[in-house]
Amino acid sequence: MGNAQGLRKLVSLMITSCCGVTDVSLEAIGKVCINLKQMCLRRCCFVSGDGLVAFAKSAGFLECLQLEECNRVTQAGIIGVFSNCGLKSLTLVKCMGVKDISLGAPLSSPCNSLKSLSIRNCPGFGTGSLALVSKLCPQLQHIDLSGLCGITDAGLLPLLQNCEAGLLKLNLSGWLSLTDEIVLALTRLHGATLELLNLDGCRRITDASLVAVADNCVFLSDLDVSRCAITDAGVAALSHAEQLNLQVLSFSGCPGITNKSLTFLKKLGKTLVGLNLQQCNSISTQTVELLMESLWRCDILF
Ligand SMILES: *[C@@H]1O[C@H](CO)[C@@H](O)[C@H](O)[C@H]1NC(C)=O
Ligand SMILES: *[C@@H]1O[C@H](CO)[C@@H](O)[C@H](O)[C@H]1NC(C)=O
Repeated sequence: MGNAQGLRKLVSLMITSCCGVTDVSLEAIGKVCINLKQMCLRRCCFVSGDGLVAFAKSAGFLECLQLEECNRVTQAGIIGVFSNCGLKSLTLVKCMGVKDISLGAPLSSPCNSLKSLSIRNCPGFGTGSLALVSKLCPQLQHIDLSGLCGITDAGLLPLLQNCEAGLLKLNLSGWLSLTDEIVLALTRLHGATLELLNLDGCRRITDASLVAVADNCVFLSDLDVSRCAITDAGVAALSHAEQLNLQVLSFSGCPGITNKSLTFLKKLGKTLVGLNLQQCNSISTQTVELLMESLWRCDILF
């Protein structure tokens, strides 16, 4: 390490496709780069869970950790990282080595610094892992769990209940098993803070969820219910909400929305800057043209 001075100043580091990086070298990086705040490891096939924990301990100022396709990283490794409690943001993408184990072991103290958690397309991350995370990270505000389709309503509920700070952003796109029950719980628990909700592809979500959103969400500005089981009644409920100020709304791939929604969409459109009606096959081009005429400020995709 000839250029140790430079390494000490390093704040952000990204290591891609580097199978030369081992647990030992990773820990060394943590020790030398004492100011490291952001670390991204992509396709680091030799980094294990233990290596990750050792790194997180040695990198004392680490705030943001992102792991993509690091397939030797385990659930224990992820949980161990939370003991490095300066971490504010953790992202896991396609880490296939994470397997769902319900640990009976006593938990470490909570990681109150973690605000943002993103776990995308890690099929092994299941109900047990989510239960652990919900106990360990009570201050989460941004959660992206898109593509974790193996988890049910019951698996998600503890996480929603344990978020003490109030959720701001939640992305559950692709959760096929999700039902209106959990959206009802979500809006009851976090309707006063929620700004973004993505339920794209949650096919069992119906108008009942939109009624709950309309009744409980005060600050929601971005809503995506594409490919859900939404009909005109749901659009009507949203348009009747008193306090909603939606800016971006996506209904793409909702064949239950028809020409009858024109007046409701016009009403919703007063605050919208973006409206996605792609693949809404029951709405005619003529209806969309009428909508475009009255909503000239809003960008409409059809
Ligand atoms: C939600 O997740 C999907 C799938 O990973 C992604 O394409 C989308 O950009 C995310 N949306 C938001 C608002 O984070
Ligand atoms: C929608 O309205 C147009 C005329 O505005 C009509 O031609 C079309 O058949 C209607 N589509 C449906 C699905 O009702």
